[in-house]
Amino acid sequence: MSMMKIGDIGVQGDVILAPMDGISDHPFRSLAKEFGSAISYAEFINAREVLSNIKLIQKKVVFDRSERPVAFQVYDDDPLNILEAALRLMQYKPDILDVNLGCSVKAVANRGAGAGLLKQPDDIRRTFELLTTNLDVPITAKIRLGWDEDTLNYLEIARIIEGSGGKAIAMHGRTRMQTYSHPARWEAIKEVKQAIKIPVIGNGDIRSVADIDRMIGETGCDAVMIGRAAVGNPWILRRQEKSVVSRAEVIKVTLEHLQKSVDFYGELNGVRKFRKFLKRYLEGLDIEPYRMQDLLSEEDTDNLVRILHSLLNK
Ligand SMILES: Cc1cc2nc3c(=O)[nH]c(=O)nc-3n(C[C@H](O)[C@H](O)[C@H](O)COP(=O)(O)O)c2cc1C
Repeated sequence: MSMMKIGDIGVQGDVILAPMDGISDHPFRSLAKEFGSAISYAEFINAREVLSNIKLIQKKVVFDRSERPVAFQVYDDDPLNILEAALRLMQYKPDILDVNLGCSVKAVANRGAGAGLLKQPDDIRRTFELLTTNLDVPITAKIRLGWDEDTLNYLEIARIIEGSGGKAIAMHGRTRMQTYSHPARWEAIKEVKQAIKIPVIGNGDIRSVADIDRMIGETGCDAVMIGRAAVGNPWILRRQEKSVVSRAEVIKVTLEHLQKSVDFYGELNGVRKFRKFLKRYLEGLDIEPYRMQDLLSEEDTDNLVRILHSLLNK
C-alpha cells in the first residue's frame, strides 16, 4: 500500500474521493472510506457562513473517527475571513485544512473566491502565510489551471503555495472557464509535480481503474482524486470495475448507503438526498423504466428497501 505524507499526517492509499458539494457528505464519505478512499475530503464550506452563524454548516463537519484523515475545505475571497473561519473550524478537529481555489460556480468564482482567487496570487500567498503560521494542521489547496486560457498560472500558484508552507496540492486540470466541459489536461499535473516537492494529487476525468494507473503513470502524481465517476460506483476507489461487481453486491452496497443517508438526514430527507446516488447505482442493472420511476419517486424508506430487495431476484 502506498504511503504519502501531508505534513506529518500519514495517508495510506493513493485513491481519494473528491470533495463534491451536495455529494461527498458524511454518509458517502464514510462509505468511501470503507472502499479505501485515502482521505476524507468534506464538501466545501463557505467561510462567511462559519463567521456569521456556524450552525449553518453543522452537517458538513460531522465525521466518524474511522474516516480520518479528514480534510475540511474552506472558500472565500478574503484571506482574513479564511483564517478566521479555519480557526473556528478547528474545534471540530479535522486533520487537514484545505483551501478551495478551484470552484467554478458563478456565485463563488465571480466574487473572487474558489477559482476566482487564482486571479489574485498575492492573496493566495497571504492566505497560506496566515494559515500556516496560525494553525497546527497541514494546509493544502485544490487548484485549477488558471482562470482562462490566457491566464494559465498554475505553476506560479503551486510554487506560491509550497513557498508559503502548503503541504499538498490537488490539481484539477481545467481552467475556471472550462468548468467541466473540456477534457482535463493531465500534462499540467505532471508539470506541477515536477515543479514542487510537496505531494500532488491529480484530478479530472478518471472514469475507470485503468485511468487511475494511467494518470499516475503519465503524471507521476502521488495520488488521484475521483469525483463524478465515484458516484454510484465506490468500487472504483478500491480499483475494482463496477462491471465485474455482482448484482447482489451492487444492491447490498446501495442498501448500505441508503441506510447511512437515512441515519444521517432522517427518513424523508435521507431518501430524497439519496436519489442522485440511487440512479447511478442502478445504472447497468437493466431496470425497466417504469420500475426506475417508482424507485426514484419513492419517499418511504421501507418501501424503497423492499423494492431494492425485489431486484435481487431478477
Ligand atoms: C456536483 C459537484 C460538486 C463539487 N463540489 C466541489 C467542492 O465542494 N469542492 C471542490 O474542491 N471541488 C468540487 N467539485 C469538483 C470536484 O472535486 C472535481 O475537481 C471535479 O469533479 C473533476 O473531477 P472528476 O472529473 O473526477 O469529476 C465538485 C464537482 C461536482 C461535479
